[in-house]
Amino acid sequence: MSTCMVLVGVQWGDEGKGKIVDVLCEHFDTVVRYQGGANAGHTVVVNGRRFILQLIPSGILRPGKTAVIGNGVVLDPDALLRELQALKQAGVEVDGRLLVSDRCHLILPHHRAHEVAAEAARGADKIGTTSKGIGPTYEDKAGRRGLRACDLQDEQTFYRRFKEAEGSWRPEAAGGQPGGDALQQAAVDYYQKARLITPFLTGVSAYLNRQLDDGKRVLFEGAQGTLLDLDHGTYPYVTSSSAAAGGAATGAGIGPTRIQGVIGVSKAYATRVGSGPFATEAYGADGEKLRERGSEYGAVTGRPRRCGWFDVPAARYSARLNGLTALVITKLDILDHLAEIPVGVAYEYEGRTLDDFPADAEVLENVRVTYRTLPGWQQNTFGLTRFEDLPEKARDYLDFLAAEVGVPVVMVSTGPERHQTIWRQDHPLVRAWAQAG
Ligand code: IMP
Repeated sequence: MSTCMVLVGVQWGDEGKGKIVDVLCEHFDTVVRYQGGANAGHTVVVNGRRFILQLIPSGILRPGKTAVIGNGVVLDPDALLRELQALKQAGVEVDGRLLVSDRCHLILPHHRAHEVAAEAARGADKIGTTSKGIGPTYEDKAGRRGLRACDLQDEQTFYRRFKEAEGSWRPEAAGGQPGGDALQQAAVDYYQKARLITPFLTGVSAYLNRQLDDGKRVLFEGAQGTLLDLDHGTYPYVTSSSAAAGGAATGAGIGPTRIQGVIGVSKAYATRVGSGPFATEAYGADGEKLRERGSEYGAVTGRPRRCGWFDVPAARYSARLNGLTALVITKLDILDHLAEIPVGVAYEYEGRTLDDFPADAEVLENVRVTYRTLPGWQQNTFGLTRFEDLPEKARDYLDFLAAEVGVPVVMVSTGPERHQTIWRQDHPLVRAWAQAG
């Protein structure tokens, strides 16, 4: 029987999904990205070697697995080619193992220019985007004027559509557009590179549905995190795509009824890059210590991440939105030094406890968080591989998170390498995986 699972970030991205996908891959045939673009940075360490994958699913690092980029992804051909080159240099054989949807929208030069200008115009209110042209590309998609990968098939049509698309933005907003010959040259330069991706293009929906019909095991890999989801995240401080599990269906062309389970990945604490509300943010020495111990710097932008404590109301909201069936907790070892660990368990706003995650970013910005302080274990957990070997207080901490969020913890990551992972062998889901091979 086929298996179809979605893996998502429970928080604001950077939960360590790349490593978890790499570990889970062993049990799947195909790994699929369904949204976002080169704004993501999935760090995977294999035999001491560090790979940062921005577009290609981490499944590519496992021989014999197929990596798929679904139609919901916005594609920067140059970024894809650079990534392919880096994999090739590292000796990773990609040929025949990467498929890219011919319906992916293309990130064009004006998208990046426009994003930089739009962020500058927002001043102190900026989103803190990754400057990869993600938002404006999705704007063009929704505005029905975008270019898609299938438009690369015919050179002359591509030039015409490129010029139309570039010209559709107000020149002053994008910091000045090239016109005439310069625009023609920009189109030619873009096409010369972008056409190199055409051998990877295919109808991904048909491929994936065939795979599932044939009893194959398919894993969907969310980028960013649920709280950055365009509809459900901390709007407007979000990314422009559907990062939550529902995005997998539209972003790859499979029916929602195909999905059998959703795995949520969360750090044992919390981080966020860019602007926007972060109720359990830790300021001063506490936050700095987490950043330093967890090496919390953006994989794509190098920006220091804001750090804080596990946020139960946010995780519960995320569990509900995604229909989480399993939880994976990463970077547990980063908390090893602490005598006490605060966990945010409720939000209070204007004197009353909120019963749901607020829609309004300004409300979230001003909630008062109720904390529960749990005892730390102050022992080394780095690299442990068996649940029984964890200090009792670390196990209690994990049990507490699972009970509060209402989702079982099936896996714990205790370091960046594949083997630094604890599977909860006692959990039926894990046993079912093991049986399925
Ligand atoms: P954009 O996706 O570049 O438009 O950025 C929108 C927001 O999402 C900003 O706050 C970014 O910092 C954040 N963001 C985008 N991609 C990631 C990611 O992969 N990890 C964490 N934050 C991200």
